[in-house]
Amino acid sequence: MVTDAGDPIPRFPDGFLWGVSTSAHQIEGAADVREPSVWDAFTAEPGRVKDGSTAAVACDHYHRYREDVALLSGLGVDAYRFSVSWPRVDSPGGLDFYDRLVDELCAAGVRPVPTLFHWDLPARLDWLDRDTAQRFAAYVSTVAARLGDRVTKWITLNEPAEHTLLGHALGAHAPGRRLLFDALPVAHHQLLAHGLAVRALRAAGATDIGIANSHGPTWPASAAPEDTAAAEFYDVLLNRLFADPLLLGRYPDGIGELMPGDVDADLAVIAEPVDWYGVNYYAPTRVGAPQETETEFGGMPIPAELPFSLKEIEGRPVTDFGWPVVPEGLTELLTAFRDRYGDRLPPVVITENGCSYEGLDDQDRIAYLDGHIRALHRAIEAGVDVRGYFVWSLLDNFEWAEGYARRFGLVHVDHATQRRTPKASYNWFRNALRSQS
Ligand code: NOJ
Repeated sequence: MVTDAGDPIPRFPDGFLWGVSTSAHQIEGAADVREPSVWDAFTAEPGRVKDGSTAAVACDHYHRYREDVALLSGLGVDAYRFSVSWPRVDSPGGLDFYDRLVDELCAAGVRPVPTLFHWDLPARLDWLDRDTAQRFAAYVSTVAARLGDRVTKWITLNEPAEHTLLGHALGAHAPGRRLLFDALPVAHHQLLAHGLAVRALRAAGATDIGIANSHGPTWPASAAPEDTAAAEFYDVLLNRLFADPLLLGRYPDGIGELMPGDVDADLAVIAEPVDWYGVNYYAPTRVGAPQETETEFGGMPIPAELPFSLKEIEGRPVTDFGWPVVPEGLTELLTAFRDRYGDRLPPVVITENGCSYEGLDDQDRIAYLDGHIRALHRAIEAGVDVRGYFVWSLLDNFEWAEGYARRFGLVHVDHATQRRTPKASYNWFRNALRSQS
């Protein structure tokens, strides 16, 4: 890949927050000392995870967090985004782990940025139940009461769009339901949970609260009306179904009517202002008219009932996951977001960006990150208020239905021995961060 990665990255604004991200289920392990989550139940079903693996041990971060914080500190990041496992907090001594982790981070001078829900719902709960939103807020209050003296920056939910689509509409992720459009209440209840959590965090004194949503440009497969209509529909699902209620206090046309409960009253809670808006960006999506039979795209079933199909983006390098590498998609996404939401868009933080490649000398990852950081800088030059950037991920980890086959880490993990080895990209990112200080 041709890259500018040898040249220093441009200078970002003072106070810009540089970090890396992980999530509890993907790295912690120690599943034997916590309550089960929907992901434990899902991975126990044969055929659900490609390599048949589970996250029972994962990166054993629960026992090795000191070593992992040392890796963060060696990297020189300002902040670390991790997630708090709700089933662990529900278990005796579970919060003690996050207490220790936060202490260790603070001692290392790395700012803790917890995500309160990253897909590992307690197995006894269900997002189809409205009550789950209230329970989430109660759990958030418990976490804030314990960690709020040291944690100042919070994330409520991670990618509720993917959790709804992959977990409840298409069945490729836990809890493995294939409800298609009947999954919409799952979106509404997560949004309500977010709004209630924002209120609970503010009640506990928090002043720096955001959410992490997945977004990306949706490109029509051609100029034909069937393709542009399908791409617009997909854009609503990915880029507006969550952002419109959060930022504008309303659903895109035609969707509010499909949601359960007193939607107007709920929207007032959902639109509780956030202090910043987190964007997870990986790649654009090329969308075409629906197909007559079910297709598969990137391991995801696309039933014929859906009003779109997904297509390859040609002429681009791809990661080992098969995802196209399109750095300028990030500039396009952020400027389009600013144009769509105007003053209603609070400062943006890129809460995830990264790629899956094999090997320790991961020059392709360096090229990916370098290209995306430059594209982010172009969005800032174009006037988008971006305040931070987090690489996904610190460690190679459990990549959901893909198991351990996908390696997103700056640090290689030998999953048999748990040995951590920084990759070339770790050194590259460390030097890039040094050049900013
Ligand atoms: C988004 C998810 O938040 C994260 O859990 C996942 O590992 C990455 N994307 C890569 O697929």
